Amino acid sequence: MHIKDRTFIISGGASGLGLATVRDLHSHGGYVAILDLSAETGNSIVNELGDRVKFYEADMSSTTSVQTAVNAIATWISQTSAPIGGVIPAAGVGLPSKLIDRNNEPLSMAPIDFVLNINLRGVLDLLRLTLPHMTRNTPTDPDGERGVLVLVSSSAAFDGQPGQVAYAASKGAIRSMTLVLARDLAQYGIRCMAIAPSYFESAMTAQMSEKVRKSLEKVFEFPKRPGQGREFASCVRHCVENGMLNGEVIRLDGGTRMPSRL
Ligand SMILES: NC(=O)c1ccc[n+]([C@@H]2O[C@H](COP(=O)([O-])OP(=O)(O)OC[C@H]3O[C@@H](n4cnc5c(N)ncnc54)[C@H](O)[C@@H]3O)[C@@H](O)[C@H]2O)c1
Repeated sequence: MHIKDRTFIISGGASGLGLATVRDLHSHGGYVAILDLSAETGNSIVNELGDRVKFYEADMSSTTSVQTAVNAIATWISQTSAPIGGVIPAAGVGLPSKLIDRNNEPLSMAPIDFVLNINLRGVLDLLRLTLPHMTRNTPTDPDGERGVLVLVSSSAAFDGQPGQVAYAASKGAIRSMTLVLARDLAQYGIRCMAIAPSYFESAMTAQMSEKVRKSLEKVFEFPKRPGQGREFASCVRHCVENGMLNGEVIRLDGGTRMPSRL
């Protein structure tokens, strides 16, 4: 899929890995629609990058909100004539918790719903509302490609750590749906890939305590450092540009396997 003059929808594009991808695809000639919560941050990115980027204030856990944003993006692409080339649903949250606490009390459903509604339901919602626009694209290459989805899983989908039950469930689901989507969407010329990063520098991981950060650094294989947003973004770009990548989850982790305890 060509990046130039295609529109890429990136949820969670106002921070971290999503923002790095916004910058990368924009610098390669793409149009980018950012869906995120904070209009203030979103608008400052638009001011910095210029008129091939638009911000849509949207809560990924609300269908009404996602639908409103997708409708507005449809209007924008009718003005730019840059069809939707890809969707990168990067909005995600983690909320460490175990299903029972030290007093044998069950966890309330609120933190479970919070994580699943954004990380899983929100992804399915964005994809289902965007796909009808992508299937209408006129293919421009001999393969008949119309678009590509690049999902964001996590190392937690493979080796989840204690306290990550809801997060790992959501990211495992992303991992599992990748091949299904590739198969379901093959008839439309739409590919689906997923990337499973390990520990990358971002606002999400900045919340970790110094102790956890130091322990994580001991388990890195090579290179012995956290991943950088630009490395995630270049992997997304490769997924977009390489037409043979389909139905697979790429572990982007420098060979690191997360241990049970840090
Ligand atoms: N950073 C890592 O080490 C790492 C590792 C594995 C997977 N991931 C995944 O990568 C993705 C990006 O994470 P990040 O590390 O860049 O985090 P981040 O916190 O820097 O960015 C996440 C973005 O999602 C947005 N967001 C959260 N809830 C939202 C909602 N309801 N609606 C719309 N937007 C919402 C936030 O406002 C934020 O801009 C997530 O899906 C995360 O699970 C990150």
